[in-house]
Amino acid sequence: MRMTVIGCGYLGAVHAASMAQLGHDVVGIDVDEAKIAALAGGLPPFFEPGLPELLDRALATGRLRFSTDMADARGSAVHFVAVGTPQQPGALAADLTYVHAAIDALAPMLEPGDLVAGKSTVPVGTARAIAARLADTGALVAWNPEFLREGFAIQDTLHPDRLVYGLPDEAPDVARAVLDEVYAATIADGTPVVATDLETAELVKSAANAFLATKISFINAMAEVCEAAGADVTQLADAIGHDARIGRRFLNAGLGFGGGCLPKDIRAFMARAGELGADQALTFLREVDQINMRRRSRAVDLAREALDGSVLGRKIAVLGLAFKPDSDDVRDSPALNVAAQLALQGAAVLCHDPRAIEPARHRFPELAYVETVADAVRDADAVLVLTEWDEYRELDPVALGQDVAQRIVIDGRNCLDSGAWRAAGWRYRALGRPREARALQAA
Ligand code: UDX
Repeated sequence: MRMTVIGCGYLGAVHAASMAQLGHDVVGIDVDEAKIAALAGGLPPFFEPGLPELLDRALATGRLRFSTDMADARGSAVHFVAVGTPQQPGALAADLTYVHAAIDALAPMLEPGDLVAGKSTVPVGTARAIAARLADTGALVAWNPEFLREGFAIQDTLHPDRLVYGLPDEAPDVARAVLDEVYAATIADGTPVVATDLETAELVKSAANAFLATKISFINAMAEVCEAAGADVTQLADAIGHDARIGRRFLNAGLGFGGGCLPKDIRAFMARAGELGADQALTFLREVDQINMRRRSRAVDLAREALDGSVLGRKIAVLGLAFKPDSDDVRDSPALNVAAQLALQGAAVLCHDPRAIEPARHRFPELAYVETVADAVRDADAVLVLTEWDEYRELDPVALGQDVAQRIVIDGRNCLDSGAWRAAGWRYRALGRPREARALQAA
């Protein structure tokens, strides 16, 4: 099938390459010339495991092209819209500027019978408004939300848990047949398809992200109670996670969620519910957001407490800047937020990350960045592990202890072997696990 993918960011670039991998003839279109030049040369402008190899393979087949010219969308049977929907500055709602610009640019290229398939996360009602805007082109509009996780983006695109189709009222069977053809290989692998209306499909995505954010904030709320009660949140998570109705996944307490999706998506969801007169239904998401943000301040407090009340002039090694491991994404990163707060409170912060130094430097040029863990920890008064990269999980606390000024470690992601660190003489502190501190005082 000939298809267009409009918007070549984290979502679109992976989708375009994956569709070519499935055997389709794909053109990826973006207004950013530098991004398109990089992708056409097989170099993704962000880190995603496996993507450079996938791009190379797809480009070599000749079935994948990249362009800045929307005219290249002509002749495609399907046009995926995968542009960003960031948070509006100064408001909770999503900024749909890029979606509207993409649709306006695409409209003149459409032919009757084409399918416009939205993938971007949008407020409910957007797809129907786009369908009205495109009515005179004779194209159909469907919504086909994407659930990929950064770091697992290719696997999630080629082997998703489910496919969701929001189908147009006027010709649901026609749109469904086109999407079934797009995803024929994925469906043949046994992936379930949920076919529904436009509004339900849009809401599925918002609801899924709201649920995941709530699950993380639930365990982080338990972490706060554990801190007050002297209990251990990781053992609590293990214990409740054995109940299959609850499940252990997404119950890792720590610095909480960040990134380009969950924070802005729950806010946009609240804003949209408010517009629809259903704001009461989602007021709990405000609490989810607040619990999440409190974790960042709590990590700063833990550092201050460990350093006897002040971080001023203290040397702090920050290990981890990306919002999660296997990503170089620092958008709304809890780790970068903590690093910046400490620096603003007068600490001498040295930051390291295996992948995210350049994106972090771009966002916070005033922080100091170093290329190796050894450079970060040398003579440090405290070491903070804020993103759970394998490289940090595998650090040898005995060797590291030789280089620091004080053996104080704060595990912002509950990812280190606390026993091994304590055995190596470190004061180990973690969010939601005050027993570690008590055990230390008793020892
Ligand atoms: C998320 C959704 O998972 C995905 O379905 C959607 O399409 C986009 O948003 P992503 O942002 O890539 O994907 O990351 P995800 O793996 O969901 O993690 C989000 C944040 O939650 C990260 O900052 C992560 O560190 C944090 N997290 C995750 C926790 O704090 N605890 C957990 O147990 C799990």
